[in-house]
Amino acid sequence: MTLSTALTQVRHLETEIPGPRSRDLMARKQEAVARGVGTTMPVFAVRAGGGVVEDVDGNVLIDLGSGIAVTTVGASAPRVVDAVREQAEAFTHTCFMVTPYEGYVAVAERLNRLTPGTHEKRSVLFNSGAEAVENAIKIARVATGRQAVVAFDHAYHGRTNLTMALTAKSMPYKQGFGPFAPEVYRAPLSYPYRDGLDGPAAARRAIDVIEKQVGTPAALVIEPIQGEGGFIVPAPGFLPALAEWCRANGVVFIADEVQSGFARTGAFFASEHEGLVPDLVVSAKGIAGGLPLSAVTGRAEIMDAVHAGGLGGTYGGNPLACAAALAAIETIESEGLVDRARKIEMLMKDRLLRLRKDDPRIGDVRGRGAMLAFELVRPGGDEPDPELARAVSAAAHRQGVIVLTCGTYGNVLRFLPPLSISDELLEDAIEVLTRAFAES
Ligand SMILES: Cc1ncc(COP(=O)(O)O)c(C=O)c1O
Repeated sequence: MTLSTALTQVRHLETEIPGPRSRDLMARKQEAVARGVGTTMPVFAVRAGGGVVEDVDGNVLIDLGSGIAVTTVGASAPRVVDAVREQAEAFTHTCFMVTPYEGYVAVAERLNRLTPGTHEKRSVLFNSGAEAVENAIKIARVATGRQAVVAFDHAYHGRTNLTMALTAKSMPYKQGFGPFAPEVYRAPLSYPYRDGLDGPAAARRAIDVIEKQVGTPAALVIEPIQGEGGFIVPAPGFLPALAEWCRANGVVFIADEVQSGFARTGAFFASEHEGLVPDLVVSAKGIAGGLPLSAVTGRAEIMDAVHAGGLGGTYGGNPLACAAALAAIETIESEGLVDRARKIEMLMKDRLLRLRKDDPRIGDVRGRGAMLAFELVRPGGDEPDPELARAVSAAAHRQGVIVLTCGTYGNVLRFLPPLSISDELLEDAIEVLTRAFAES
């Protein structure tokens, strides 16, 4: 596999973490940047690519985060860099709503081909995941003439007003930011580790809540594998049963594939693992190799229900981001990255399961492809242990491995390596994690 830069693909600690230059920059950040913007690690990046991030002190860190599931093809993947450079020299912006350009249309064509289902589709492009989720709901409301929207326990859909309403967790995403958008209802998710229900039973429980408390909504929005909520993979049969209920009741089934899409889980979209064909699919993050781009793709008759001028935005489908997306898709296809995600799952899951066998604090190992996680609990039960998640991730950070936490209870360690990472780096990262568990 071609690695994106001349960056050495070996973990290397030049200083303690954070080093002196990062500490100076952090002091400047505290003076200049709003306190509400947190950082996972107190180090400042200068370069990234392949499977590493180099910081300002010359430390080379193993990247198990991909900038929260964005640099799936690697940071500065060569095709993406070339495409963006070429596009920047031609034009950086005209606004697709003023004088359109081919790149936007080509991305829409690719998305229409790549998303599940062979029906006629349309796509529309935006900037962020939250913006695309909001627009998927706008579209579903116009198409159905209804207003209510159902989201699920542990859901994360973004930080704008409507997506905060859809998101489940209060702190830090919602606390103090209300009032939230109305006509949003919440249904129970399938969470096999905690509810012990099989998929059809969990779906019956959710549908019962929806029918009793909402009636017939415009849409149901769900992450096929939950991201921030804790990498929760619903029990088999849960998603197909919900999709079937939606079909039978004329409810738009929206798959939020912002985190799980674009080869991350060992399929182009996570919906494919259960043969799911959503009415609308929301993409973002991994779509454009690090440039801001998001999309809603779906059934032509639903997408085209919206009047001309009803969808858009100044930067939506910016030409640089479209050029990057076309290059990222080409990279995924020509480098076999869907398959690479499956190989990463085989390598990592085996090692993570072995770690779990010897450590009762690892309650669950779950996920698909290169979207894997540990749920940490206090030994002897299933009480969440967020302190342990914090301690293990801090120990890994000190040793130069970027890991992220997540979960409603803050007790999940999640692993989202770029698919351009080498096996050697993954092995090394797992060694570091093993030691981090031993010391925590
Ligand atoms: C499933 C899901 N939906 C939506 C979003 C929001 O995306 P963005 O941060 O680009 O607005 C995220 C971000 O983490 C996500 O994981």
